[in-house]
Amino acid sequence: MTTEGEAHTRTIPDRIQPTPAGWESPELKGMLISASEIQSRVRELADQIQSQLPMDKPIVILPVLSGSFLFAADLVRHWRFACELDFIGLSSYGASTQPGLIDWTHKIKTDIKDKHVLVIDDILDTGQTLDEVKKELSKHHPTAIHTCVLLNKTLKTSGSTRFQADYTGFKIPDHFVVGYGLDFALKFRQLPFVGLLSPNCHGTDAD
Ligand code: XMP
Repeated sequence: MTTEGEAHTRTIPDRIQPTPAGWESPELKGMLISASEIQSRVRELADQIQSQLPMDKPIVILPVLSGSFLFAADLVRHWRFACELDFIGLSSYGASTQPGLIDWTHKIKTDIKDKHVLVIDDILDTGQTLDEVKKELSKHHPTAIHTCVLLNKTLKTSGSTRFQADYTGFKIPDHFVVGYGLDFALKFRQLPFVGLLSPNCHGTDAD
């Protein structure tokens, strides 16, 4: 089934582009999505969300820390509608590239009862993070929970009943990616592009 979010996404082929000058690292295999591709897609997403969400009451924007910090910061700067901005935090990867147990690092403090909520996350992989977020937020009785992710790993999606986001920036191949908020052992979050991690880093507990 194709959801609204998937219908408007942009699919990135399984490609490797050279790492931009100045950002080269033995831990980086190359670039998957350039900074300019990200910025133009963020603009499109921001416009789409602004035109589709109900604006009768302030919307509560909830970026999921830490990986969505750059994405959320770039998205919200395009919006002119009234919103309340808070953060929630979960972690699942620790310092490895294999998902582990989900741990709440920052639970919701804002009152979301009878309000529309927009959750912003960096990447949808197995879907267990956003499942958990929706389950937890539902206990606070919001009017509706909308979800937006920058990246959606394609191969784990097809044919599955996995969580689907309402808004998706890019569908990407199933590789471990870093940059634009996403880290490996807390490194690479500041990259303005999305990069591919070198195979020799996979599955290790570096850091
Ligand atoms: P799930 O499996 O719960 O994953 O949908 C969502 C969370 O896992 C992290 N994640 C990644 N982090 N590169 C990263 O740096 C990746 O390729 C990757 N895949 C999943 C991320 O924190 C996300 O919120």
